[in-house]
Amino acid sequence: MQHILLSLIVCTLGNMITLQAQQPTIAVDVSKKGCSVSPSLYGIFYEEINHSGDGGLYAELVRNRSFEDTRIPESWHVEEGRLVPRKVMHHFTGVISDRTFEWPKNEIPGWNLIFDTPSKAKASLTTDSPCFESAPTSVELDISSVNNAVKFQNTGFWGIAVKTGENYLLRTIIRKDSSYHGKVRAVLLSSNGEILAMKSLQLENSDKWQDLSVTLMATKNDAKTVLSLEFDAPGKIWLDYVSLMPENTFNQRPNGMRPDIAGMLSEMKPSFMRWPGGCIVGGITLDNRFNWKKTLGDPAARPGEYITWGERCSYGFGYHEMLQFCEDLSMDAIFVCNAGMSDMFRSGEYCSNDCLQFYIDDCLDAIEYALGDLDTEWGYRRAKAGHPEKFPLKYVEVGNELHGPAYEERFNKFYDAIKTAYPDIIVISNTYINGLGGIKKTDMVAPHWYGTPNFYFNNTTLFDNIPREGYTAYIGEWACNFNVGKGNMKAALAEAAFLIGVERNGDYVTMTSYAPLLQNRHDKDWNVNLIHYDSDSVFGRASYYVQCMASQNRVDRNVNVSYTGKPTIKPCKAGKIGFGSSKSPIEIKNVTVQRNGALSNLDLCKGESRSGIWTVSDDGTLAQTGDKGNSLYVLDEINDDNYILECDVRRKGQKEGVFLFYGITDNIRDAVRYNIGGYNCQTISANQLYDGMDVGATGHAAKCLLLPDEWHHVKLAVTPVKSTLYVDGEESMSFTPMSTPEQFVNAGIEEKTNELVIKVVNRSNKPYTPQINISGVNKVAKHGKVISLVAEDDSHENSFADPFKIFPKETSLSNLSTKFTYDFKPYSYTIIRVKINSL
Ligand code: AHR
Repeated sequence: MQHILLSLIVCTLGNMITLQAQQPTIAVDVSKKGCSVSPSLYGIFYEEINHSGDGGLYAELVRNRSFEDTRIPESWHVEEGRLVPRKVMHHFTGVISDRTFEWPKNEIPGWNLIFDTPSKAKASLTTDSPCFESAPTSVELDISSVNNAVKFQNTGFWGIAVKTGENYLLRTIIRKDSSYHGKVRAVLLSSNGEILAMKSLQLENSDKWQDLSVTLMATKNDAKTVLSLEFDAPGKIWLDYVSLMPENTFNQRPNGMRPDIAGMLSEMKPSFMRWPGGCIVGGITLDNRFNWKKTLGDPAARPGEYITWGERCSYGFGYHEMLQFCEDLSMDAIFVCNAGMSDMFRSGEYCSNDCLQFYIDDCLDAIEYALGDLDTEWGYRRAKAGHPEKFPLKYVEVGNELHGPAYEERFNKFYDAIKTAYPDIIVISNTYINGLGGIKKTDMVAPHWYGTPNFYFNNTTLFDNIPREGYTAYIGEWACNFNVGKGNMKAALAEAAFLIGVERNGDYVTMTSYAPLLQNRHDKDWNVNLIHYDSDSVFGRASYYVQCMASQNRVDRNVNVSYTGKPTIKPCKAGKIGFGSSKSPIEIKNVTVQRNGALSNLDLCKGESRSGIWTVSDDGTLAQTGDKGNSLYVLDEINDDNYILECDVRRKGQKEGVFLFYGITDNIRDAVRYNIGGYNCQTISANQLYDGMDVGATGHAAKCLLLPDEWHHVKLAVTPVKSTLYVDGEESMSFTPMSTPEQFVNAGIEEKTNELVIKVVNRSNKPYTPQINISGVNKVAKHGKVISLVAEDDSHENSFADPFKIFPKETSLSNLSTKFTYDFKPYSYTIIRVKINSL
């Protein structure tokens, strides 16, 4: 309002020209329609990571309820306290992975046996006389004498949270031998030992497994309750399953979700959910892939699976529950099927061609479970599980983050099989945005990006010139997660800016989902995650509110917008040349530079190792031999922005390629980096690096092959505005370092309300106060509203202690017309909504 008045006064004084010269503008022309924006643009991606499901969204309160947590994956073993996967050969690199995983020292995680002297008791795991062959492990309690009751206690996922007056459903599958004549009590004990609920289990005098349930009502709130099963006589008892579920789950579903976390997801208004991963789809080796069929049926009979993030997942949030949850939140489901290949960043195992049909059929069965008629095998099973209606499964993604010829060949087979049986299913490949390679046809490609703020700020135009070639893009995993603390406002602004570019290209990028979505405070497997919780509280980072705001204010169609701001020009600076790699040995020789018509050989001894292990041999070859972290060697002789560099490079490792840097500034914080033959020899990419050398994502990429152990010739032509790279005489890619604007703007129409929606990111530490000119309309309503997310500093973040430090606020706007001024605060993401009458 203040600014509207200011602008009127200035007009009457006749100073308009002066002001306009200084004041930036946002010009929105509603009559010039842009592309439509997909209703499915915003969704969620769920994977069991950071205790997302168990100890997170899935409401189960007991940890290791089936006693399967320390079951070793089939054909693996434990050696010197580490879990050792079966050795297999990577389908792309030929390497046999030697990765091992930490293995818990405690045989029965989550549980403690407590007794006082002279009582005597021991707990051990057994697979004898299993209740379910599929989940065969049970615990044997051998109680030889009892003074006070012997207690077998579960501490949940870092505490069991209960609330006054709420019911908790305990189910246990228990067996005793004829020597046990005592009682069994279930007790909820508060963190200071107070009894919050207690019930006896009605155990029959039989040596068969008994499936018993009782309801415990808590008398107090406590976030760190313990579930105690108490035995008051000697004898032997076996427990196969102990589950404690709140009665109050999201939508009151049995075996359901935690209402507070599910509520946070619901607020995001997601249009789809991608499930079950992520890396866990492929598994470390194929035997420990995520197996959807084993997630069906009685939760007590589900075996669960060890997942690459370091624990066993219970399979409690199974395929049926996921589809049910999609229905509850009006989302379409994306099922990510296993492509007969384990994760490429783990062992890279692939099944032989003879076995491929098994995986294709497994995928078709999953589709049939969701969509099949009742007279089909899997449609019938769905109905038997209580859901005769079809579920909203709309998409199938074949594998996760798989690349290379073996994947492409397999994808083609999956695509044909799925489309033949289910022509309406939208089939997604793991391909990025730089061409389909050997893939014959796909409905969507699925790039993933994790990167620095500048990666996102610099790539808001990434999709503007991508050829539309009959498929669309689903950015299935993305996040600004490097150089952003635990996830601060800078990350949120970078994501909001990127989304502005995404929405502007809504005809091409039709779906997005942030990753990872969820994180238990006590288990951080990934550096930055969207929603944080412990046993009884939950908060969203600033990035969460960006997701909510963008999704709740999605437009149906873009309109033309142009704006002036204050760009931060970061031209390609003159700088030094460097070499490096990620965890891989490399060699460089014969480095020459051509400048001003003169050719000179560079002496590789004249340089400095910044990281890695570098040596120069007698014949002048520079070698990096370390296998840890990113390495960098900076040459001293060149500090320029106009030259042609040539050299021979050889890579020995298989992971990333050879890094070639230019424009390295003296403080080693800015540079351009080519990654030649990265991602298992397959691609070449270029990134502009700011804020130090840490970078996590591909900027622009093209195909390239840099075979291990072979010398390749590289030529880099650097000019002040652009560089071009040639590998073995072929032009591979060019890179133009970009200038990064401080403001990002997009506008569109929400058709059902006929509102013009203007989204503005101001990443600057200064206010941005443009005049907003709306043309192509008859009328603009007098009143509108503004939703804004603002931080005092872009390093600020939400936390358990201050969960709403950065939180969207809604205010009203009045006295609007087709021209008004708005003051966008420093470090802000703002959405203006105003009703219009189009011409
Ligand atoms: O989101 C975390 C992981 O990142 C996913 O499991 C994987 O797909 C990606 O590499």
